[in-house]
Amino acid sequence: MKLGFLASHHGSNVQAVVDACRAGRLAATPCVVISNNGESEALARARRQGIARYHLSGVTHPAPGQLDAAIVDALSRHGVELVVLAGYMKKLGPSTLARYHGRVLNIHPALLPRFGGPGMYGRHVHEAVLAAGERETGITIHLVDGEYDHGPILAQCRVDVRDGDTAASLAERVLAREHAFLVETLDRILRRDLILP
Ligand code: GRF
Repeated sequence: MKLGFLASHHGSNVQAVVDACRAGRLAATPCVVISNNGESEALARARRQGIARYHLSGVTHPAPGQLDAAIVDALSRHGVELVVLAGYMKKLGPSTLARYHGRVLNIHPALLPRFGGPGMYGRHVHEAVLAAGERETGITIHLVDGEYDHGPILAQCRVDVRDGDTAASLAERVLAREHAFLVETLDRILRRDLILP
């Protein structure tokens, strides 16, 4: 299975999947990493790993529809079959969503449908979980539609909230679990233990 990634920042989830593929723990090939952020660690990781990479953004492609077309072109050119949004801070355009309908996943660091949507990213998610007095949080992997953190849920995993947790400590614990959970979920999809609708 050929994988494509979109990531805006650190790219640690991309790295976890690439490592699993390279170690033979996941029967997939990471083919391309796309970022809206030319300075992102995600693109630097792709460069170091010898994976095709593209900086595609509203700055590089300002005309209406141009960015969407460039993204779908890059994914298609590399034969991508499944797209993973791993900390991608932008919405996908209609051409990409149509071409990869039902084949775009997003990973979110909370139990959707709660604690998701516009503004719910990074530490904001974990701050909201703590402010709500939740005793558990988690991770959601879902199919992507045209809205932020929205679309059919494929898999969820729970993570305890501990006494004394801060947004930073919670973020660290959730992210560490994300790496394994993303690989596990992709493996289930590849083995058809988890069937995409
Ligand atoms: C992760 O917490 C992911 O759930 C969210 O963005 C973060 C990306 O982290 N969508 P990284 O860039 O993979 O380190």
